[in-house]
Amino acid sequence: MGRASDDPALKLRALEIRDTLRIAICGSVDDGKSTLLGRLLAEAGMIPDDRLQQMIRDSRKHGTQGGAPDYALLLDGLEAEREQGITIDVAWRYFGTDRRAFIVADCPGHAQYTRNMASGASNAELGIVLVDARAGVQTQTRRHVAILAMFGVTRVLFAVNKLDLIDYDVARYAQIEHECRELARTLGIARSDAIPVSALTADNLVVNSPRTPWYTGEPLLKFLETVEIPRRSDAPFALPVQWVNRPDQHFRGYTGSIASGRIAPDAEVVVLPAGTRARVARVIGGANDLDSAQAGDAITLTLAEQVDVSRGDVIADAAHPPEVSAQFACHVLWLGDAPLLPGRRYLLKLATRTLGAQITEIKHRIDPDTQAHLAATRLSANEIGYCNLSLDGDIAYRPYREDRTLGGFILIDRESNATVGCGTLDFGLRRNKNVHWQHLDVDRAARARIKGQQPRCLWFTGLSGAGKSTIANLVERRLHADGFHTITLDGDNIRHGLNRDLGFTDADRVENIRRVAEVAKLMLDAGLIVLVSFISPFRAERRMARALFNEGEFWEVFVDAPLEVCEERDVKGLYAKARAGDIANFTGIGSPYEPPENPEIHLHSDREAAAESARRVIEALFA
Ligand code: ADX
Repeated sequence: MGRASDDPALKLRALEIRDTLRIAICGSVDDGKSTLLGRLLAEAGMIPDDRLQQMIRDSRKHGTQGGAPDYALLLDGLEAEREQGITIDVAWRYFGTDRRAFIVADCPGHAQYTRNMASGASNAELGIVLVDARAGVQTQTRRHVAILAMFGVTRVLFAVNKLDLIDYDVARYAQIEHECRELARTLGIARSDAIPVSALTADNLVVNSPRTPWYTGEPLLKFLETVEIPRRSDAPFALPVQWVNRPDQHFRGYTGSIASGRIAPDAEVVVLPAGTRARVARVIGGANDLDSAQAGDAITLTLAEQVDVSRGDVIADAAHPPEVSAQFACHVLWLGDAPLLPGRRYLLKLATRTLGAQITEIKHRIDPDTQAHLAATRLSANEIGYCNLSLDGDIAYRPYREDRTLGGFILIDRESNATVGCGTLDFGLRRNKNVHWQHLDVDRAARARIKGQQPRCLWFTGLSGAGKSTIANLVERRLHADGFHTITLDGDNIRHGLNRDLGFTDADRVENIRRVAEVAKLMLDAGLIVLVSFISPFRAERRMARALFNEGEFWEVFVDAPLEVCEERDVKGLYAKARAGDIANFTGIGSPYEPPENPEIHLHSDREAAAESARRVIEALFA
């Protein structure tokens, strides 16, 4: 029998054993998840005697079983580690028997822990879902199985617990088992099993219980030791390149952990997304040349041909390469405090590749309890949506259900660098493949030359009533008088036409700015000096607008006046209405304004006249 140990060496050994099973165990406190694990370890002889005695003493003091042994307390002593990776932390526990090492993620039951469950599930090969025999399949059972399925767990074990409390009633158990299997089937879990157990009385944990003669399957521990799980090493070879190792001119190696499959010298590979083919020269592990390596191994590859490979590329089996796309249908679990908004720009990290990304459309939100599809224009924390995703460039990928490494991604906020979402790629959309850039001989520079001017985008941002339009108008008059070709795009005006369909929710404002930024860019291409006057309250969208232009073309002009001053002016009477509750989401009142951090021009419209501000803009423009 094995040992549950705090000895780090033992833990390491457990990790080295090739036959390791990663489990996500789901259930809320009342389901008896900790008691089940604790009792399993105790019955299997994995807990030293002195610890058992300690547990019995502690149970009298602060157990939850009225003084009787509280096996859940054993888990406090069992080594628990918080993995603080790039995703979300989740508690992992390690134990092992002679046959197998187990790594168990403890997934709490409540909806607000969805993120922890997702993190546990995305690393697990088997899901154990606890079901209270008195209650049967519950809303949260559905949620647990749905999240396991979404995060690629293909095999689920239902531990139908507290059998003692239904007097080992075979008919009741059969009914629950049927419900569980149906649930797993409808949610797309490839294989499910059920075991009737009682954590409190140790039925069917390590040996078959005499109280359930009608159950002829394996006890829990045996099941865990023998359950068959598809191995990543059997899939086609793929190596996401972590870094290019180039110590001198004579050596060029590509380093990373093998995501799937096996590799040996002489194998034919393809470098993606470029699609260049090559042959493997050497497979190096540590300081030694290897005959072969497999999934999970950290290696350096060298190629026989000189080809272009960078960090983030994927080197893959040439006969079974991953697919390549920049547009996807995907599921997203949102984690950020600020909601996910379609059109906003994030960073996406998939395997070792990081690049710009946006959710172009939320098709629907999924109710985690009922799986119903709900209409949604945004996703809040812990919500799951089915979305279209657009990346700034091609990536090599496989659908998540086939490959978690090349199909799972995280979304990162560009401002804070925090992980704000995670998701799974379902399939690539080939949509934009047939839309190419048309080459035009007359370009921006040519058009500008004929007008004798430098095209520019002056982007006025600030609160309603700060004076953006007034100042922009004065600037345009001056430029026009001096013979420059200009155009002004004003929020109020554009909202009567092009953006007539948009309101003032965060999602609509993002789209509002995206469209006007694209229009401003076209106008710049026409050789014009473009004045944009939009509140544009969010940094992320102003940054997105800036990114559309070349260096030096985009000038952020912050028209700065305190909210009190704008409200005092209240030219359109809108602040009064907003205060009266007649306008929801009014900027500065019901909706935030994020001031620019480094505007090219900062005007204080409360302290200087509009004419003076306009003069300063012109001066800066021709400095
Ligand atoms: S933005 O936030 O999406 O950039 P935009 O500049 O297009 O806003 O439009 C702002 C104008 O719409 C304001 O000048 C005001 O006249 C009007 N407006 C109506 N409702 C609102 C609101 N809830 N918040 C801000 N402006 C509003």
